[in-house]
Amino acid sequence: NDLYAVVGHPISHSKSPRIHSLFAQQTGQAVEYTAIQAPLEDFAGTVRDFFQRGGKGLNVTVPFKEQAWQLAEVRTDRAEKAGAVNTLYRDNQGRLTADNTDGCGLVRDLTSNHGIRLNGARVLVLGAGGAVRGVLGPILEQQPASVTIANRTVAKAQALAELFAPAASGVDINAVGFEQPDQPYDLIINGTSASLQGDLPPLSPTVIGSKTVIYDMMYSLQTTTFNQWALDNGAGRVFDGVGMLVEQAAESFRLWRGVRPETAPVTEQLRND
Ligand code: ATR
Repeated sequence: NDLYAVVGHPISHSKSPRIHSLFAQQTGQAVEYTAIQAPLEDFAGTVRDFFQRGGKGLNVTVPFKEQAWQLAEVRTDRAEKAGAVNTLYRDNQGRLTADNTDGCGLVRDLTSNHGIRLNGARVLVLGAGGAVRGVLGPILEQQPASVTIANRTVAKAQALAELFAPAASGVDINAVGFEQPDQPYDLIINGTSASLQGDLPPLSPTVIGSKTVIYDMMYSLQTTTFNQWALDNGAGRVFDGVGMLVEQAAESFRLWRGVRPETAPVTEQLRND
C-alpha cells in the first residue's frame, strides 16, 4: 500500500484517517493513511522522515500549515496566495510540492453540495486568520458581488483585503470591525476560532435576513455556537464545516491518486460514526 498521513499537534482528534480510508475503500485504491503528531519544534524533520520512509503524501493541519508553506519547494498558485498549505507531495521531479485544498473544499461544499450561488452574492466573512486567508482566493474566483471581511482586529482584516484586492477582479472587497455590518447578507461564513471557546463575534443580528445562508467552517457534532446564534436570530439555512472537511480531503486524494471519490456517502458516514 502507498503511505499517506496527516501531521499536526495535537492530532488524535483528526477525522482525516477515517475519511481517507473510506475514500480508499470506495475507489479501490491501495492507500494506507495514518496520523502523525509532529513535535512542535521539528515539523520539518517529521516531513523529511516521512518522505524518506517512502511516504507519498501528507495532509498538514494546525499549527503547521504556514510552516508547510515555507518548507515547500514548489507551490500551486492557489497555495501561494493562501500563505498556508494542507497538502504536500513530491512532483515528478521529486520536489516537495504544496497545495491548499481548503478553499476549493469550502466552495464545492457550498455550491455542489448545498446549491448555494456565490456568483453575485453579498458575502460577509468573519475572521482574518489563517483559516480565512486560505479560502479567500477560491471564494473570489466565484465572482461574488462583494466580500466584507469583519474581524476583531480590524487591521488584520484590512491587510487581507489589500492582499486579495489585486486578484479580486471586480469584486468589491472591504474590511470592517464586527460592530459595523448591519444589513442582511446573502451568505455569512464564520472563519473565526471563537466557537472553539464557545464565544460569539459581537455581530448585529440585523446581518441575518430570511434568505441568509450561514456557514460555520468549524466542524462539530452539535450545532456550533455561531450557528445556534444564527438560528435564534432567524437564519433559514445553517451549515457546519463537515462538508468542507470531506471536500478538502477529496481534493487532496484526487491530487495524489488521480481519482476523485464520491463525498456524499463519506459525509453521511461521519455524521453517523
Ligand atoms: P485560524 O488558523 O483558525 O484562522 P488564527 O490565524 O489564530 O487561527 O485566527 C483566528 C481568528 O479568529 C482571528 O480572526 C481571530 O481574531 P483576531 O485577529 O482579532 O485575533 C479570531 N478570534 C479568535 N478568538 C476570537 C473571539 N473570542 N472572538 C472573536 N474573534 C476571535
